[in-house]
Parts: sequence; structure tokens; C-alpha cells
Amino acid sequence: MPSVLISGANRGLGFEFARQYAADGWTVHATARNPGAANELAALGGDVHIHQLDVTQQASIDALAAGLKGWSIDVLIANSGIIKAFDTPIDVASHRDFMEVMATNTLGPLALASALLPNIMLGERKLATALSSLMSSITRNDWGTQHVYRASKTALNAVWTSLAREWRPRGIACVLIRPGYVRTGMTGGKGDLDPPESIMGLRQVIAGLSLKDAGRLIGYDGKDLPW
Ligand SMILES: NC(=O)c1ccc[n+]([C@@H]2O[C@H](COP(=O)([O-])OP(=O)(O)OC[C@H]3O[C@@H](n4cnc5c(N)ncnc54)[C@H](OP(=O)(O)O)[C@@H]3O)[C@@H](O)[C@H]2O)c1
Repeated sequence: MPSVLISGANRGLGFEFARQYAADGWTVHATARNPGAANELAALGGDVHIHQLDVTQQASIDALAAGLKGWSIDVLIANSGIIKAFDTPIDVASHRDFMEVMATNTLGPLALASALLPNIMLGERKLATALSSLMSSITRNDWGTQHVYRASKTALNAVWTSLAREWRPRGIACVLIRPGYVRTGMTGGKGDLDPPESIMGLRQVIAGLSLKDAGRLIGYDGKDLPW
């Protein structure tokens, strides 16, 4: 069966990815900042391997890569993310919040993908995906709020499309995926969708991806999002 690595899989969308892939018989590498508290993950049946990972800590990323040496990863899902300073205007957002959100949402996925390149090369699918957002779209930045988060996801789009260009010659497709507005901890339980529906849509998108899709930003509904 294929294998997937999902960061931030102890709750929210990451957990739902892990649950659905495990139920389908995939080998699931599920990461959590605190594996000891990942009770729902631990209770999943199937071929699920739980790993410690904080994407802002290079030592943590290095330890994950060392532990996975020789394992193939067909699909990487760089899912972990945070939101801070939700209502804060961009001109007064704190440097500290900005750096933390950028480190987690932009640099974290890049560092993770880079460290796991040997594993992705061993995989048959050779897909590296990252969770972007409607908030990443500059075209659609027309109602305010979430300015720091928006910047981090716009930067993620830039980083991932650069990675798509770099890794295309190796046969790896780097693709940005958008879950929709989903009821999770991040949204305070608000949203248009529950995690199962969003993730079923994203898994369908992922199942159809190939190298020709490298550099795209595709929603759970299969539609591209304007940059
Ligand atoms: N929900 C939505 O409507 C929506 C819409 C668009 C995009 N997204 C994106 O989808 C992804 C998942 O969102 P979600 O709604 O499932 O959020 P969530 O419920 O808040 O879960 C976030 C996950 O990321 C983990 N995480 C946070 N910082 C981390 C770090 N430094 N290192 C490793 N893991 C870290 C969290 O771990 P802890 O439990 O340890 O905090 C948790 O597992 C995010 O990238 C988000 O930006 C969500």
C-alpha cells in the first residue's frame, strides 16, 4: 500500500487525513508536537506510525528524517499551521507574532519537505503537498482580517511554487491544496464544512495529481484558486 506523512496529525484536518488514509490501508506516518497526548491518533487502527515533530525546530525535523531513513513516502502532506493576531491590523502586528506564524506556516513546510526529499524520492507517487488557504490569495484579499496568517500562506505559495520548479526534474510534483473553510480548532469550530467532507475532497484531488499539476493551488472541490 502507499504511504503518507502528515504533519500536525493529532487534531483537525491532519487527524482526519490520518484517519481516512489509515482506514484505506495506507501506511500513515502521523506527526504530533506532543505524541504522548495524541490519544485519538494512538487509538486509530491500521498501519499508523506516530512521530514527534515541531516544524519550527530544525533538530526535531532532523530527528524525524533520521528515524525515517530508508522509508518511502509516496505523499507528503505539510499540514501543520497556526493563526495569530486574527483581527490585528497589519501595521501594528507584532514582530513576534509575525515571526512565529512565518516560521510555522512558511518555513516549516519547506524545511520538512527538504529533509524528507530522500524519502519522497523512494516513493512511487512523488507528491509533496502543503495546506494553503483562500487567505493566501492576494486577488481575494478583499475583506480584511487575518493579515499575518494571509502573509504566511501567500509566502508559502511562493515557496512551494519555487520548490515545484526545483523538484520537477526529479519527477516530484509539489502542489498546494486548499481545504475550504472547515470547522476545526483553528476556526473556533466555525466553517462551511466538517473535516470528513473537506478531506474526502482533498484525497480525491491528491489521488489524481501527477507531475503536470506541479505548482498549482487546488481546492477540495478540484478548482484552482487565483493567486
Ligand atoms: N480549518 C480551516 O478552515 C482551514 C482553511 C484553510 C487552510 N487551513 C490550513 O490547514 C492546516 C490544518 O488546519 P486545522 O484547521 O486542522 O488547524 P488546527 O485544528 O489548529 O490544527 C493544527 C495542527 O498543526 C499543529 N501544529 C501547530 N504548530 C506546529 C508546529 N510548530 N509544528 C508541528 N505541528 C504544529 C497542531 O499541533 P498542536 O496540537 O500541538 O497545536 C495541530 O496538530 C493548517 O495549515 C491551516 O492553515 C485550514
